Amino acid sequence: MKFLIIIYFITSFFFLSQSFKTKEQSIKDGYEIYQDFCLRCHMSEGEGSKGIPPLAKSDYLFNDIENSIHVVKNGMKGEIIVNNVKYNNVMESPGLDDEEVADVMNYILNSWGNSYDKLITYEEVLKIK
Ligand code: HEC
Repeated sequence: MKFLIIIYFITSFFFLSQSFKTKEQSIKDGYEIYQDFCLRCHMSEGEGSKGIPPLAKSDYLFNDIENSIHVVKNGMKGEIIVNNVKYNNVMESPGLDDEEVADVMNYILNSWGNSYDKLITYEEVLKIK
């Protein structure tokens, strides 16, 4: 019996910690993912570089959040306009899982002067194919 109670507490703690990740924690985890998967192109201040659009103050990023989740999940190619500058390049899929996509979205939406009220959740990313 004691054993079952312990298992019960461990599993419920596990599920609670998964579904109640705070925004602060998600942004912190997203920072780590950004360093590993995005920094080399979008740079440390999200400023982008030649042929690579910025994430800092990007109108494209904020215009359609669902589409931006789609980009971070699957990559993109073709012509886009970000802050009045035209890009026609390719971003390969970074190959992140849905929770990592949510974390890195929360990081880029709340860094370098960007801010976004809502928390991007795992469930929201899961729905976008
Ligand atoms: C190999 C370089 C490269 C890497 C790595 C990369 N990107 Fe991109 N990203 C691009 C390019 C190039 C585009 C524009 C593609 C086009 O022209 O269609 C882009 C576009 C975007 C856009 C939409 C345009 C904008 O500026 O708002 C977002 C959002 C984005 N990337 C986020 C990320 C995130 C988050 C990561 C890391 C998980 C990442 N990218 C990794 C090169 C990269």
